[in-house]
Amino acid sequence: MCGIVGYIGSEQAAPILLDGLEKLEYRGYDSSGIAVINNDIIDVEKAKGRLQGLREKTNNGANVIGTIGIGHTRWATHGEPSDVNAHPHLSQSGRFAVVHNGIIENYIALRERLTKKGFEFISETDTEVIAHLFEYYYKGDIMDAMIKVIDRVEGSYALGVLCSDYPDQFIAVRKASPLIIGLGKGENFIASDVTAILKYTRDVYYLEDNEIVVLKNDSVKVYNIDKEEVEKNVFTVDWDISAAEKGGYEHFMIKEIEEQPKALRATISPRIKDGKIVLDDVSLTREDIKNIRKIFIVACGSAYHVGVVAKYVIERMCRIPVEAQIASEFRYCDPIVMPNDLVIVISQSGETADTLEALKVAKSRGARILSIVNVVGSAIANASDDVIYTWAGPEIAVATTKAYSTQLSVVYLLALYMAEKLGTITHGQYKKYLDELQALPDLVAETIKHKEQIAYLASKFYNCHSIFFIGRNLDYAVSLEGSLKLKEISYIHSEAYAAGELKHGTISLIEDGTLVIALATGNDLFDKTVSNIKEVTSRGAVVMGLTTTERSMNGIADYTIQIPVTSDIFLPSLSVIPLQLFGYYVAAQKGCDIDKPRNLAKSVTVE
Ligand code: G6P
Repeated sequence: MCGIVGYIGSEQAAPILLDGLEKLEYRGYDSSGIAVINNDIIDVEKAKGRLQGLREKTNNGANVIGTIGIGHTRWATHGEPSDVNAHPHLSQSGRFAVVHNGIIENYIALRERLTKKGFEFISETDTEVIAHLFEYYYKGDIMDAMIKVIDRVEGSYALGVLCSDYPDQFIAVRKASPLIIGLGKGENFIASDVTAILKYTRDVYYLEDNEIVVLKNDSVKVYNIDKEEVEKNVFTVDWDISAAEKGGYEHFMIKEIEEQPKALRATISPRIKDGKIVLDDVSLTREDIKNIRKIFIVACGSAYHVGVVAKYVIERMCRIPVEAQIASEFRYCDPIVMPNDLVIVISQSGETADTLEALKVAKSRGARILSIVNVVGSAIANASDDVIYTWAGPEIAVATTKAYSTQLSVVYLLALYMAEKLGTITHGQYKKYLDELQALPDLVAETIKHKEQIAYLASKFYNCHSIFFIGRNLDYAVSLEGSLKLKEISYIHSEAYAAGELKHGTISLIEDGTLVIALATGNDLFDKTVSNIKEVTSRGAVVMGLTTTERSMNGIADYTIQIPVTSDIFLPSLSVIPLQLFGYYVAAQKGCDIDKPRNLAKSVTVE
């Protein structure tokens, strides 16, 4: 969702802002804009649609003069995508320019108040009130105005603010929306995430809510709302810059699919030492684990699908009841969460608004929060009691692949860690599982090698109007993700069903030629799923079966995809690979915008 970048230094700002915005495109947007101070006047350029439009309008930034500026990619919430609704927004006199990520919940009341005081609004956005509020409260000190503004607005915000009276500095703040500060030499930055500024610096500050930052060429100062300076620790980001570049691949998505073995090794290997799982970041003791009454897993999108796998895995390994819930439901269902409960929060970005709010609900009821997060220092990581980071590196494609896989690997580590402490698995089982977990990256690599077969199947089925995924237990959990992958990037309608549930309604949709992708990887339920396959083939369905190399689906499915053999609990890590590839190749056949599918955003910072 919306992306912010800001620059102050000795270089021309506009090309740097455009470059940063390009790196933030993946977050999802439908218009963009920049504002630069030139000769004490704020110059604003905006364009609806892709960033290319803004590039053309400004001659790649060359026509916008000045060495201090802010930029924005907007994902429309209040008001349609248009030039006028795009950020930056100017205050009435043009003295202030504001970029904003988040939602101002009381903007209607503020707008009415400001209108009565003579301010005229030209856009439909909630953000414009902030620009006018700055002007309203400004009495010659930008910091005082900022303190007043953030006291008046309710909701979430990351703000970058230019003031033409201050051509040598700009100011920023955040609350419940992401914003980091990049520290360069003779230049400094703000950005929604590090990918926008990795090219210029790796040294960053992470901000707490309502910390106000003043950026100049040669200094960055952070203040609290009492105007007291706050000491910040510099964090050095070790993400490889090439990880955020396409590096010869046609799309980030296929690059990230292929990066999965490496990401899995980075996430798993450092946490297995001398035949034991070591989770340095987790402070849960054996006693704490024994006292857990119930585990909740809350997340959105694919991270929720990891939660569905986790439910089966943790219950099987640890015999603790687990409930996986969609964060946007959990936060409003008055959940029965108790102090002895563990709430596992899963999020790639660490900034998904619903997930963060669900976390806060659980925390307010006394539960212990353990999060599985990819972005270090993100809001969800900061708000948790324990964090286990996935070391997937930056994920750029909107459709997640390597984040999903590494989240799953953390679930395995955690489940086995707790099972060993609880004594719910034998020493022999623990050792076997650990060996298999360490071998998983190689098996994933082996599975990816068969991508040509999946590309062939995609070329046969990319014209389908509707595709069903079925499976039982863990296979059902992976079906959810396979179906989501397909629909989000190829725009083909698709549903995932628990195989045994199909006959209670959905089977009426099966007709001659309907494609059903049937997952039957688990040993225990293979025969049961085969019965469900027969139910659909006898009604005309064409079946693509997915099983292990140990099984044959000859005479059962029309096409068979096989994955390597490992223990049942680890099979989701392998079975998801052909489904990611299928979604990718179908979308490629259809010529879809794979990395930036329509209407979707990578990080969803509004509810
Ligand atoms: C968006 C993304 C999904 C992601 C979900 C949760 O919808 O498009 O790929 O699974 O948000 O994001 P998170 O960053 O919390 O994992």
